[in-house]
Amino acid sequence: MKIVIIGGGGREHAIAWKLHLSPLCEQLYCIPGNAGISGIARCENVPIKPDFTELIVWCREHAINLVVVGPERPLSEGIVDALQSAGLVCFGPNQEASRIESCKRYAKELMQEAGIPPARARVFSEYDDARAYLETLDAPYVIKATGLAEGKGVTVARDIEKARQALRKCLVDSAFGDAGHEVLIEEYLEGEEASLLAFADGTRIRAMDSAQDHKPVFDGDRGPNTGGMGSYSPAPVMTAERHKFCVSEILEPCMRVLRGRGIDYRGILYAGLMITESGPKVIEFNCRFGDPETQALLPRLETDLVEVMLACAQGTLSSLELKWSRRSAVCVVTASGGYPGPYAKGILISGLEQVRDQEDVIVFHAGTRLEGVRVLTNGGRVLGVTALHQNLGKAIEQAYACLEKIQFDGKHFRRDIGHHAMKYTEFPAR
Ligand code: AMP
Ligand code: GLY
Repeated sequence: MKIVIIGGGGREHAIAWKLHLSPLCEQLYCIPGNAGISGIARCENVPIKPDFTELIVWCREHAINLVVVGPERPLSEGIVDALQSAGLVCFGPNQEASRIESCKRYAKELMQEAGIPPARARVFSEYDDARAYLETLDAPYVIKATGLAEGKGVTVARDIEKARQALRKCLVDSAFGDAGHEVLIEEYLEGEEASLLAFADGTRIRAMDSAQDHKPVFDGDRGPNTGGMGSYSPAPVMTAERHKFCVSEILEPCMRVLRGRGIDYRGILYAGLMITESGPKVIEFNCRFGDPETQALLPRLETDLVEVMLACAQGTLSSLELKWSRRSAVCVVTASGGYPGPYAKGILISGLEQVRDQEDVIVFHAGTRLEGVRVLTNGGRVLGVTALHQNLGKAIEQAYACLEKIQFDGKHFRRDIGHHAMKYTEFPAR
């Protein structure tokens, strides 16, 4: 089969890495890809916008059998609808289905209909109303732009002045454009976070093992939120019992309601969860693989990913079981100096050749590009080093040992990825 992946981050490198191991994959392309992906796929620059026409022509010329869409933005812009209308087979939800991520108000309505335990929230489009409601609440405050805001639309504020600023930023200053013209003021949930992703085929789901992301930039979960500074899988907080609960009380009811609304949800259904004292609650739904959860999940997946993606596209997931390695995986992300604020690009990365063939370690590229034979930084998150081991502590050690060998000016990373898991003495059944 000829497969093309849309995207060029660490998530897409992990997807490419797993797809290229499949005997069904004859030729792999990535648009636009990055330096790491170019080692296993042909990277091409094809304009996606404004209406996907050039992409459709390119896919036809290259006799593409499967298009795998990585990021949420093109999904929310209707890439799958356009490609499917042109007769192409896609992995990813259509525009209507992807509203589960692109419109938080819509996701809340779905959850209510499905009886899914949510974080309670109220929606506002007028600053004065929002502010008046805010004054009736106690800290901490959670303010969310309802649309897609590149992961920057959520503020968790410990003091009311910061919460007011967040409201002003969305509703008065239009800092997120249309994505922030409506905000949610949400109940603050206390607990440990976990991500539970599932493959969906329009009717059924197959849940993956759990994972955990580390959003804040600094050790000890301090500092501003990032796209994710590291991940590990499985997450011990997600016991077998909680996993079962999340499948039967969250993911399956969500699919039932979607189907009831006539929505054909295929691809990834991702629940961002807070495990509270009163059980798991949904913070958000996403319509695509998590980044960097995917870099810890896919190296543990033993089932052929091409088969799984085809089953999603063809509606035949029920005939397929996912098999997971018993080993733990940890992914430590290294970022450009200044990230998640402004950062420089084009900085030389050295040491990659020293870690190329290391056993049980995979270096996933995110923001990198090739210049001749040199690899340069090209984004905020630069690389993610994933290590696998029966023992999570050992996997963490291996990932950091590998990361030490890779150098670039301004490089920074968290030194405590996986620390939440280390407090559990017994490892979970799944
Ligand atoms: P999101 O962009 O929705 O994933 O939110 C970013 C981060 O904000 C999450 O990973 C949580 O750490 C935090 N967060 C979001 N909603 C809540 C909430 N209701 N209570 C506590 N923390 C939250
Ligand atoms: N890792 C969080 C996300 O992909 O949204």
